[in-house]
Amino acid sequence: MAEKGSSGKNTLSIRDNRTGRDYEVDIHEGDVISAMDLRQIKVNDDDFGMMSYDPAFKNTASTRSTITYIDGEKGILRYRGYPIDQLAERSSHLEVSYLLLKGELPTQSELDDFVHDVTYHTYVHENFVELFRSFRYDAHAMGMMTSGVAALSTIYPESKDVHDPVNRWIQITRLVAKMPTLAAFAYRHHRGLPPIYPENELSYTANFLNMLFRIGTRDYTPSPVLERALDVLFILHADHEQNCSATTMRVIGSADADPYTALAGAMGALYGPLHGGANEAVLRMLRRIGSADNIPDFMEGVKRREERLMGFGHRVYKAYDPRAAIIKRTADEVFEVTGRNPLLDIALELEKIALNEEFFVERNLYPNVDFYSGIIYQAMGFPVEMFPVLFAIPRTVGWLAQWEEMLEDDEQKIARPRQVFVGADERDFVPVENRG
Ligand code: CMC
Repeated sequence: MAEKGSSGKNTLSIRDNRTGRDYEVDIHEGDVISAMDLRQIKVNDDDFGMMSYDPAFKNTASTRSTITYIDGEKGILRYRGYPIDQLAERSSHLEVSYLLLKGELPTQSELDDFVHDVTYHTYVHENFVELFRSFRYDAHAMGMMTSGVAALSTIYPESKDVHDPVNRWIQITRLVAKMPTLAAFAYRHHRGLPPIYPENELSYTANFLNMLFRIGTRDYTPSPVLERALDVLFILHADHEQNCSATTMRVIGSADADPYTALAGAMGALYGPLHGGANEAVLRMLRRIGSADNIPDFMEGVKRREERLMGFGHRVYKAYDPRAAIIKRTADEVFEVTGRNPLLDIALELEKIALNEEFFVERNLYPNVDFYSGIIYQAMGFPVEMFPVLFAIPRTVGWLAQWEEMLEDDEQKIARPRQVFVGADERDFVPVENRG
């Protein structure tokens, strides 16, 4: 809660110098004023009232939330109050999923039930085999996956009843369960391999690895180290409060769209190279740099603003992204099994230079979650096209938690920002033959 200053009042006084009128508006949690309180500030009765202008929502809270807390200055990330490093070390992705979705860590029986339900919803309708087969051989995995998620809404039309919490929970379970299956179908199509169906006795990540990498009927046992590393990566990616894709999920969901359609939209946002597509962009960048000798030239290009150092910088973190630090440790464990990815040396050198160069230091640009994740994924055998998909699988939980919170929030309505119109005033139509 906000601390009252010396005046003892939790309000903000505003003087409108156009009219000389004074206004007093309440200050809420921390340093927050309600944008609607500005509307009373008018020059005359016909005036619409004052509003704030904030492209890209740089200083606008769109919701109250209890899900994820970030302190970007201090590099803190907590899900429902639990520090990310404790969850990454001691929990599992499905346990964290329950925490994010329900607000509390599950008891053993709640966890068992959740794991059971997720495990037994992993199959998708057989038509999806045909759906994936219909894509061109070189279709990007994220495009196939997004289409697959949207198509799920046709299989579950009852999901439109978004105001029934029981119905919502069934769709949530289905989505958490089916995302790895759809992702594996996309990957297998990309490789020209037949799909492998889910095996329900395996863990969430072992089943995923099995669906991806098993060839024919031959036994495939995923390495426990890789199974756990993927689980940790899933935990780290599960939610990140009001980012671009979570906001997209909330905005589409605010129109009462079904969760499959809303989630397909969120995936579209995630696909962008400035968001979840960054891990793919990092890998392509590292390959392009090719060797540590080329780094100085590359960095000069970044400083001349000809390109960006992908995997660096964050709207919220102005310190080391805590997820990047955990991923860096995970990388060492993975490379013990897979062998060292040579791109790591380029990445480490880039990080070392960037952390000491004035350009990056004065802009607080540190490695973000995507800087090292792609190098791990590549070492595990994933093609770059799968990287954003590997982000989307765990982030599904965050999107659904945000969606659920939005629907339960009485203050939320269909999202509809205002604009400041700066276009032409009214003018008469000119027939084409009279236009100059
Ligand atoms: N390389 C070079 N310069 C950068 C970078 C970068 N990666 N990121 C920011 N800057 C500069 C930018 O040019 C600007 O400089 P100036 O003030 O002189 O104009 C300053 O730093 C502030 O940047 P910004 O673009 O205003 O910051 P933003 O908050 O709008 O953008 C960002 C955040 C993540 C889009 C941006 O840092 C970026 O493009 N990073 C590379 C892409 C990337 O790694 N994205 C993954 C984000 S983490 C995963 C996720 O949550 O999606």
